[in-house]
Amino acid sequence: MRIIVGITGASGALYAMELLRHLRASGHEIHAVVSAYGWKLLEHECGAGRAELAGLCNYLHENENLAASIASGSFRADAMVIVPCSMRTLAAVAAGMADKLICRAADVMLKERKNLILAVRESPLSAIHLENMLKLARLGVCLMPLCPGFYHRPQSIAELAAMMAGRIMDALNIPNEVCQRWQGM
Ligand SMILES: Cc1cc2nc3c(=O)[nH]c(=O)nc-3n(C[C@H](O)[C@H](O)[C@H](O)COP(=O)(O)O)c2cc1C
Repeated sequence: MRIIVGITGASGALYAMELLRHLRASGHEIHAVVSAYGWKLLEHECGAGRAELAGLCNYLHENENLAASIASGSFRADAMVIVPCSMRTLAAVAAGMADKLICRAADVMLKERKNLILAVRESPLSAIHLENMLKLARLGVCLMPLCPGFYHRPQSIAELAAMMAGRIMDALNIPNEVCQRWQGM
């Protein structure tokens, strides 16, 4: 599959790094794009910069480059996940504001009826945030709050990150054993 991963300036850059590691290992073609505040949060929360990101994807696009391959529906990307997804980017996607590459690529996913997953992160949520999510959910977008479960009794932050990464891969329809599966009690 050809998968686009957008990284924006919400807290939770670790989730993006974890997802990219597993997607890379699974052999899919990965196109990454990072917003200006996405870069700041990657540095602040993970100490990661361009070199680390470039090593986790096949193509690292500039968010200002609206002429990038993934800006066109004719490129035929299969799916896109924005992780973490800020409320600003959520609002832009809900409004059809395609002025940055992440938002344009998401807009393309919507118009081409492709799998779009928004791993949103904010707390608490305002009515504006909720309305934007509802609008997109009604269009078939998968809203996936970065709220890992605790039923597998995680012992570390890494396990929490893996839990979310695995569930996002589930939403991408990629078979994986990244997250622990509930077996009943
Ligand atoms: C340390 C830090 C943490 C932030 N965490 C969040 C967050 O969890 N959710 C959110 O919606 N915005 C958060 N923001 C605000 C966004 O970065 C800001 O709205 C920015 O305009 C988002 O732009 P982008 O969507 O292009 O990345 C945070 C900002 C900073 C500096």
